[in-house]
Amino acid sequence: VNDFAQKTKADFPLFAEYPELVYLDNAATTQKPQAVIDSLVDFYTKHNANVHRGLYPLSEQATELYEGARAKLARFLNAATEEIIFTSGTTEGMNFLAGALPASGLVPVRPRVVISAGEHHSTLLPWQQVASELLFMPLNDNFTLEVDGDGEDAYGQAAAAGSADIIALSLINNVTGALADLHAIRARFPNSIIIVDGAQAIGHAQLDLKNLPIDFLVASGHKMYGPTGIGIMYGRKELLDQLPPQRVGGGMIRKVERENSTWAPLPERLEAGTPSIADAIAMGTAADYILSLGWDKISAHQSALSRYAFDRLTTIPGLTLYHPREVEQHGGVFSFSIEGLHPHDLAQLLGEKNVAVRAGHHCVQILHRELLKIPASTRASLAVYNDETDIDKLITAIEDAKMAIL
Ligand SMILES: Cc1ncc(COP(=O)(O)O)c(C=O)c1O
Repeated sequence: VNDFAQKTKADFPLFAEYPELVYLDNAATTQKPQAVIDSLVDFYTKHNANVHRGLYPLSEQATELYEGARAKLARFLNAATEEIIFTSGTTEGMNFLAGALPASGLVPVRPRVVISAGEHHSTLLPWQQVASELLFMPLNDNFTLEVDGDGEDAYGQAAAAGSADIIALSLINNVTGALADLHAIRARFPNSIIIVDGAQAIGHAQLDLKNLPIDFLVASGHKMYGPTGIGIMYGRKELLDQLPPQRVGGGMIRKVERENSTWAPLPERLEAGTPSIADAIAMGTAADYILSLGWDKISAHQSALSRYAFDRLTTIPGLTLYHPREVEQHGGVFSFSIEGLHPHDLAQLLGEKNVAVRAGHHCVQILHRELLKIPASTRASLAVYNDETDIDKLITAIEDAKMAIL
C-alpha cells in the first residue's frame, strides 16, 4: 500500500508544494498528476484552435486530439467511441437525460423513476422535476440497497412487478462508499432504462460498459485525476440515437433553414457549441494515467487502505462510522460523526493539522436527515496517493480534536 502510494504521490506536483498536506477530500475532487497538467499546457501552447470547423492544419490537429480523447475514454470504459458524449460533468449529464429521455418518447413525458435516499442532489433534483412518481429503493442498516424492497410500499410493489420507466442510482455512494449491485437491479427491472451516476466510480473501479447491464452512465473528469468542467455521458448507441438535443446551436447541425433545421449525427448532435477542448483531451490523459498505474494495483491499494482506515476509525470511542461492513468491496469513502463535535468544527480542527476532509451533507440531505439522523457528517475519502500514514495522521488529528472540546 505505502510503496504504491509513495510512488504515485510523486506524480502529483501539488504534494511537492504542500509536503505536509494529508488530502482526504478525494470524493469532492482529486488532485491532478503532472501528465494531466502538461496535457493542458501542451494543448494551449502547441495545438490551440477550434475543433471540427477549420480546414487548416492546426484545427485539424485540435480535432484529432479531441476525437482521440473520446476514443481513449471509450477504450477506458470498454464502450464504442460514438457512445461517448462530452459534457461539463456528472450534473450536466444527468440533467441532459432528465430532459432528453422524456422528450424522446422512449419513456412517458412524466416517467416513474426509481432512485434511492442516498442519491446525490444531481440525481435527485433533475428527476424530481420531471417524474410522475419517485420511488425510493430502500437502504438497509448496512447502507446498501435493498433491491427487492422491504415491504409492500410503492417501491416494493414496483420491484415485485419489475415496473419503472427509469432507474437512476450511483454505482459508488458519495457518503457511505456503498457499491450498487447493478446485476441485481437489472434482474429486478429487466425493461427499465438504467442510468448510473458514475461520479465516484470512474476513478476508483474498472468499468466495463459492454458487460454492465446498464443503458447510460454519467461521470466527471475531475474525480478521476482530470480537469474540472469536463465529463462524459455514455449511452447505448441505439438509445443515444433517439435522444433529441437539449441544447442547439453551432457545431451540431446538418442543414439550417428559416423555419426548421436538421441535426448532425452523433456525437456532434449532442455537443452544441465549442466544447471544453483542452479539458476533454486532458481527461483522456487522466484515463491513460490510471491505466498506467494499473487497475489491479489500484484496487489492491484501495481495498487494503480502506480496511486499514475502517479498522482505525472504528476503534475511536464516540465515533459513528456510516459504512458497509464488507469494507474491501466498497468505495473508499468514510463518513462519520463524533459525539459532541459538530462536523464543521471537526473539519476545521483537522484542517489546522493539515488534514483535508469535508464536512456537510455532501449534497445528500435526505440520507442524512432520514437515515443517519444527523444534519451533517465528516467525510474522509481515499485516492491512489494516500497511504497508512495519512490515515494515522487523520486518527491523531481526530483524537486531538476530541481533547480540544473536553
Ligand atoms: C455521487 C456523485 N454524483 C454526482 C456528483 C456531481 O458531480 P459534478 O459536481 O462533477 O457534476 C458528485 C460529486 O460531488 C458525486 O459524488
